[in-house]
Amino acid sequence: MLRFAAFIALLMLCLSCRQPEETNDWTVTAPGGAVKVDFFLTEARMPAYRVWFDEMLVLDTSFLGFELLDSPDMKAGFEVKNSSKNTFRDSWRPVYGENAIIENYYDELSVQLGEAAGLKRQMTIVFRVYDDGLGFRYELPEQENLQKVRIAEELTQFHLTGDHTAWWIPADYDSYEYLYTQSRLSEVDATKAGYKERHDRHVGNLKAVNTPLTMKTEQGLYLSIHEANLTNYAGMTLGVDSNSVLRAELVPALDGSKVTTQTPFVTPWRTIQIGKHATDLLKSNLIINLNEPNQLEDVSRIKPMKYNGVWWEIHIGKSSWDYDTGIHGANTANVLRYMDFAANNNIGGTLVEGWNIGWDNWGNKTFSLTDTYPDFDIERIVEYGREKGVELIGHHETFGNVAYYDSIVEDAFKYYYQRGVHYVKTGYAAGLNPGEFHHSQYMVNHYRRVVQLAAKYHICLDAHEPIKPTGIRRTYPNMMTREGVRGMEYNAWGGGNPPSHTTILPFTRGLAGPMDYTPGIFDVKFEKYRKDQYVRSTIAKQLALYVVLYSPLQMVADLPENYKDQPATQFIKDVGVDWEKTVILNGEIGSHVTIARKEKSTGNWFLGAITNEAARKMELHLDFLAKGKQYEATIYADAPDAHWDKNPTAYTISKQMVQKGTVLKVDLAPGGGCAISFRAE
Ligand code: NOJ
Ligand code: CA
Repeated sequence: MLRFAAFIALLMLCLSCRQPEETNDWTVTAPGGAVKVDFFLTEARMPAYRVWFDEMLVLDTSFLGFELLDSPDMKAGFEVKNSSKNTFRDSWRPVYGENAIIENYYDELSVQLGEAAGLKRQMTIVFRVYDDGLGFRYELPEQENLQKVRIAEELTQFHLTGDHTAWWIPADYDSYEYLYTQSRLSEVDATKAGYKERHDRHVGNLKAVNTPLTMKTEQGLYLSIHEANLTNYAGMTLGVDSNSVLRAELVPALDGSKVTTQTPFVTPWRTIQIGKHATDLLKSNLIINLNEPNQLEDVSRIKPMKYNGVWWEIHIGKSSWDYDTGIHGANTANVLRYMDFAANNNIGGTLVEGWNIGWDNWGNKTFSLTDTYPDFDIERIVEYGREKGVELIGHHETFGNVAYYDSIVEDAFKYYYQRGVHYVKTGYAAGLNPGEFHHSQYMVNHYRRVVQLAAKYHICLDAHEPIKPTGIRRTYPNMMTREGVRGMEYNAWGGGNPPSHTTILPFTRGLAGPMDYTPGIFDVKFEKYRKDQYVRSTIAKQLALYVVLYSPLQMVADLPENYKDQPATQFIKDVGVDWEKTVILNGEIGSHVTIARKEKSTGNWFLGAITNEAARKMELHLDFLAKGKQYEATIYADAPDAHWDKNPTAYTISKQMVQKGTVLKVDLAPGGGCAISFRAE
């Protein structure tokens, strides 16, 4: 057995370290054959590519190149200097994730281009083709005639073969906090998707979208376009042309350029995930695979966990961030109450917002990140948490004053480090100083600096108002989770999220990486505090979200008192946060989705099924359970008369012995869900 394993390991090594072979054939096919990419030069010697899936054309002739500010454009007049192909078969273990092992199998084509005349500048285009899609990027080597580079626009195109159905949010340069609109691509229009210019919102092109952009073709294929490893570059939005051509539109910098850099450099990977079923998109690891391996030497402190916190109570108006109001939430006694609840319910951390001086005057944007309000005893709290096994999760709200934050962030991390705080939530909830956009190159670099600095102080991050995830958690696993989504907070004050929202998220924003959506609200109507706002969900659906929406830091968002006397709290206590294996049982975008995950440490399985506004009957085939084992299934279901609006808190709990092959029938109420834990006997 050992010998066989050693042989396989050797074989893998050989396969993964093969030398590139020179080739004149610029077609590259995925390991399993379904995805095919063809690179070519047009008559004007413009670089272009096409993509097929199962012999079906998915992207027609799509051009590649750059418009530059201080140098002629690089889009035509090229010749191929050299080209090579390579195969790569490897697997790796993420520090945490949806699966304990990730296969990274692809075939690569690398085409070295040079201008035939003039400046004779060079660029290489590299395609990596996977069974579930592809990524490609530009690599610009060091060269005499191209040193400093200012990119006016990246001319990457995605020439779709039709006016596909798309689930999209506007190309807001500052925010992803939108509901998704389902429409034909030709109908994309930011103003119809709730966009209004604000101090912290800006859309440059109304007919453009933020990525991931997920689509369904007439033939029934599912596509999603995004980017991987966004490093020292501007975020990419997609302009939608009338002829179904999507164009990269990079988020601009203050000086009107898009990217300022110098050779040698590489762009982020442009990614296209492709599947026959919507659920195929959820299985894809292409984006994280296109990132560099872990750079951190010590990952022992990086631990996925559930957390609660002084947070929702502020958003619903029970308490305040501000000390002067007399209802200050972040007071020591209240924090200890949350920690007690955490300690009793298998919750690893307690977040505290409003602990630091400055919340009384948000406008001046110069919050101290090292001075506490007088009623917040940080030493005592950390010590109490240590005794109880609960981490204090710190909070840095910058209010967009990035220049100021840059000047104090190291001291702020040091402050937490010295006090034994290992997790920090950051926030950029406003327009920025200086006036750059949240998704610009300037901010991409800022967010990265913060991740690196946090790592230096053994701190893990949860960023709100972040740059979108592009798989950086592979390289910097301390960048654990982030917002960049219209999360639970919109139910407290923002008009709410309809039941369908969470059935769209896994297939759109969720493809990019973990989401700090903050599930777990049991008092969905919170009428005691606010009458006109509420969570559009049943309690059973809130439980199911722990499995459906992946995040290694998963919030238990409601107030401790709202979990009291609720037997459903047991599911929150039991549910895992770090997974050996993930299985997608069913799903259609905007309709429903069911996911099962096996917890790494226990071998227990957890399942979450959610639906949109429609009631749904499901037959769940438990084929994922281990053969020959018995499991005790605890089923948290919507009560027969449950309804997200009329009767959201009615649920039932039942137990049953099950095994591999058992078929469970479950009924989901309108806006409801079902959560099941499977304890291995
Ligand atoms: C917006 C964040 O999303 C939210 O979680 C936080 O409570 C507020 N900003 C204040 O920092
Ligand atoms: Ca937010």
